[in-house]
Amino acid sequence: MILLNDFKKQYHSIQTEIDDAIKRVLESGWYIMGKELEAFEHEFASYIGVKYCVGVASGTEAIALSLMSLGIGKDDEVIVPCFTAFPSITGIIQAGAIPVLVDVNPGDGLINIKKIEEKITSKTMAILPVHIYGQSCDMVPLLKIASAHKLKVIEDCAQSTGALYGEKKAGSFGDCSAFSFYPTKNLGAIGDGGAVCTNSKDCYEKLLQLRNYGQSKRYYHDVEGINSRLDEIQAAILRVKLKYLDTWNQKRRCIARIYRERIKTVDFIDENDYGQPCYHLFVIKCKDRERLIEYLNKIGINVLIHYPVPVNRQKAFIRQKNEHFPGTEFLSSQVLSLPIYPELANGEIETIISAINEFK
Ligand SMILES: Cc1ncc(COP(=O)(O)O)c(C=O)c1O
Repeated sequence: MILLNDFKKQYHSIQTEIDDAIKRVLESGWYIMGKELEAFEHEFASYIGVKYCVGVASGTEAIALSLMSLGIGKDDEVIVPCFTAFPSITGIIQAGAIPVLVDVNPGDGLINIKKIEEKITSKTMAILPVHIYGQSCDMVPLLKIASAHKLKVIEDCAQSTGALYGEKKAGSFGDCSAFSFYPTKNLGAIGDGGAVCTNSKDCYEKLLQLRNYGQSKRYYHDVEGINSRLDEIQAAILRVKLKYLDTWNQKRRCIARIYRERIKTVDFIDENDYGQPCYHLFVIKCKDRERLIEYLNKIGINVLIHYPVPVNRQKAFIRQKNEHFPGTEFLSSQVLSLPIYPELANGEIETIISAINEFK
């Protein structure tokens, strides 16, 4: 069986370091908001190329807290792509704001920048571009629109840890950027976790309070916050894994290149030449998707659809029900994610390539 993700293989490749990190935390007797978190926040901020990082409990809450730290909430509109993981929307709703959907490009799945301005109203406060599948959105034109309309930009980097736009990391462009350390992610914890990166001291100071019940100091609550913290064990593990992230992402890029060169029977998500994706997912486009899935599953190859139902057709989403999003509809009917992770063996890569090439 070739799994879509294999967390145990990654653990075994760095087992001693991970075990030591966990033991270090257990022996310290300090499990929440301690030295490991502080060190991770410094190391991650420096990796992304921003001044500040605040560890939080998940990528979803990283989005919600980013918006809250920027003063965006009740009745404010936030522009977001219609083709995304639903948690992008959950985070906006958690902050009390209203998600306003924009279509994506059918080629690369990223927000269609030409469609943003028609959705801007007097209530629009922010744009939330999603670097889906690990490829950065085209940030220069997007930031230009945001600046012309005085909108904040919150990058959804849940899938793009380590991706580049030009020479800089995705997540270093917006007012805030939200990261997820859910186990499947390129930098994955052994549970839930997330972070907000920012260059704004004001946002940073607000985020420190907001994630910790709105406290300015112990038992003094100055704002309405929530409990959303990255614990010491997760932080210690992420510190170990961060050292390997660039090597792991390079391995993902190599596998993607092999797939692109050798798979002949299906199309792929377009790769833009303005940066370097981190290949959180490797996504093909296939008209006969259901039959391909059945065929691959029979051979023992795990695949998954990211994402089969566009946001506006989800039951939990009540707005923009009758609007047509052709790019989103096209992708949600054709995309399929193949296994891609650093520990994928050469033999497994060959099996996947042959299986797809032999599919009639
Ligand atoms: C694009 C996107 N945004 C946000 C999230 C939310 O992250 P988390 O699962 O850590 O809450 C995810 C993760 O599934 C995601 O893929």
